[in-house]
Amino acid sequence: MSALTPRPGIMNIAPYVPGKDSVDGNEPIAKLSSNESAVGPSPRAMEAYAAAQNELHRYPDGGSEKLRAAIGRHYGLDPTRIVCGTGSDELLNLLVRAYLGPGDELLYSQFGFLMYPINAQGVGATPVAAPEKDYRADVDAMLAKVTNRTRVVAIVNPNNPTGSYLTKDEVRRLHATLPKNVLLIIDAAYAEYVSRNDYESGIDLVDRTDNVVMTRTFSKIYGLAGLRVGWMYGPAAVVDVIGRLRQPFNVNLAAQAAAIVALEDIAHTDSSRTNNDIWLPWLSAELTKLGLKPLPSVANFVSVGFGSKERAAAANDWLMKDGLIPRMIAAYGMPEFLRITIGTEAEMKLVQASLARFVAQNK
Ligand SMILES: Cc1ncc(COP(=O)(O)O)c(C=O)c1O
Repeated sequence: MSALTPRPGIMNIAPYVPGKDSVDGNEPIAKLSSNESAVGPSPRAMEAYAAAQNELHRYPDGGSEKLRAAIGRHYGLDPTRIVCGTGSDELLNLLVRAYLGPGDELLYSQFGFLMYPINAQGVGATPVAAPEKDYRADVDAMLAKVTNRTRVVAIVNPNNPTGSYLTKDEVRRLHATLPKNVLLIIDAAYAEYVSRNDYESGIDLVDRTDNVVMTRTFSKIYGLAGLRVGWMYGPAAVVDVIGRLRQPFNVNLAAQAAAIVALEDIAHTDSSRTNNDIWLPWLSAELTKLGLKPLPSVANFVSVGFGSKERAAAANDWLMKDGLIPRMIAAYGMPEFLRITIGTEAEMKLVQASLARFVAQNK
């Protein structure tokens, strides 16, 4: 038994378990467990990545200056209010470290992204989950859980793993009722996939307020999950705070080079969105025909209800035997569901065919 003791709370953390990437040690036919891009990285970003190899002996630009300028141009934002990170994960972690400590509460939604409770426990704060209605965040339930210890409220919009979203008006109402000393984090990792006119990623709210931060990522529609690049847009005061905490060279050189070009490759981003626009509704409709219960999703994945945790686990094994890797989401409190990332046409047809055989044999 070691005499070393970590800070209180840390041993209560159930470590985050990433999506599986192999079937019994073999290459899968389709990895649909981590909501990665169906169409892969931009060929132009790959070229930029390869070209970066001549500079690998150099430290990267510590302030990600060119990348922030490129994000600013692309999204119409002031680059001085952007911070880049090693994936948006790093920024979410830093925001929690900066604004929460022992005794403080982080409020999140019942089926929200698991890294929020994990990060909160990491700093000795208490994660508080507000119940959802029909697998959708409920603004009133969240507001009812606000106490004088609440320091951060985190929403994931659209949410992982449910795929549901809060409308622009709902997010505004949540913000308007929160105390001004509470930081509202809007995690919009999947924003680029959403095409609903009552949705807003958070930019507008960040612009009009001083206690809202939006996080985004290059891991999803931009297909660069392996390089780990994310960014946040927030008030100057929060940008200043995170600038003091982050590692000086947090985004590596190849990642910065590839991300800049990925932003410019609009045709590639469009192809990724179009693939999702076709195969998300197709898969959802096909699974409904099979009698399964896909949740309505606006992101690049769908969580499918199998009616019981035993049947979901059996479907998981079945898909895995066919070389198709879904994600079990029992850790999110949804054991009767599997989450399936939207892949290519061929991958989606294999999933449909595999689950059709599963349903035929497991009525
Ligand atoms: C909701 C949500 N936020 C953040 C992340 C982390 O993304 P990144 O790769 O930018 O760290 C993910 C990754 O799956 C996610 O689903």
